[in-house]
Amino acid sequence: MAERKKVNITTLFNKVTNKEPISWLTCYDYPTAHFQEQAGVDMILVGDSLGMTMLGYDTTLPVTMNDMIRHTQAVRRGSPNAFLVGDMPYMSYQPSTELAIRNAGRFMAEAACDAVKLEGGEEMAGRITGIANAGIPIIGHLGLTPQSVSALGGYRVQGRGALQAKKIIDDAKTLEEAGAFCILLEMVPDRVCQIITERAENCIIMSLGSGPNAHGQLLIYHDMFGLYPKFKPRMAKVFGNAGEIIQEGIKAYVKEVRERTFPAEENYFHIKDEEYEELTQMLD
Ligand code: KIV
Repeated sequence: MAERKKVNITTLFNKVTNKEPISWLTCYDYPTAHFQEQAGVDMILVGDSLGMTMLGYDTTLPVTMNDMIRHTQAVRRGSPNAFLVGDMPYMSYQPSTELAIRNAGRFMAEAACDAVKLEGGEEMAGRITGIANAGIPIIGHLGLTPQSVSALGGYRVQGRGALQAKKIIDDAKTLEEAGAFCILLEMVPDRVCQIITERAENCIIMSLGSGPNAHGQLLIYHDMFGLYPKFKPRMAKVFGNAGEIIQEGIKAYVKEVRERTFPAEENYFHIKDEEYEELTQMLD
């Protein structure tokens, strides 16, 4: 693929104006970032979901800022041109606006991010304004917010009832007014997502399991390729079963080692006869 232009915030708003849907994927490592760059994905999220998909925790809560920075740096090396979003992990922004600004700044300075994302509604408006005023593009995250999974009672659709839906719609407007240039809606009913998208004035609305009526879509990379062994959320579409291919490949490797058919001639190296002769004399 020809070298593509860096995706920036103007590119994203131009897509909204031109009614071109924005593609967004999670990514946590260098080779995957390379593939996503080659495929021309618009945005990449280094999500704190890496705690589950890459580190094997049961929730995202144990993930630290240092975990996030390490993975985000690797992703930036693999994808210099996608719009890169660093996901603020649990307790990196909840305690105070000052802490939120400092940690958002780390994503920008240490991992060359284009924006950061944090979870929460109107209670996070102050954090959003602080980060935006520091010159850092900030994305809000409403609906199912995995860092509050315990308070939400599990991984389930948010906003099915009218009251809860109204709260999400109000929160979206509050976050936009606080300075969020983009809001991710996770597992919100499609018509609630549509209302929020229609009411957004200067804010990009992205959907993860919230239907087609947004400015773009986000998917978790591990879900789309069958790479997460514990479960597959209903909202995720499997675009290819890489997990199955990898599993079969590893089984074949173990079998070939056991049967001594690996390594074959082309998988190793020889020493010349005269060098070998000299070597064996040296060893005598
Ligand atoms: O961490 C993550 O990948 C996320 C998505 C679930 C939106 O925040």
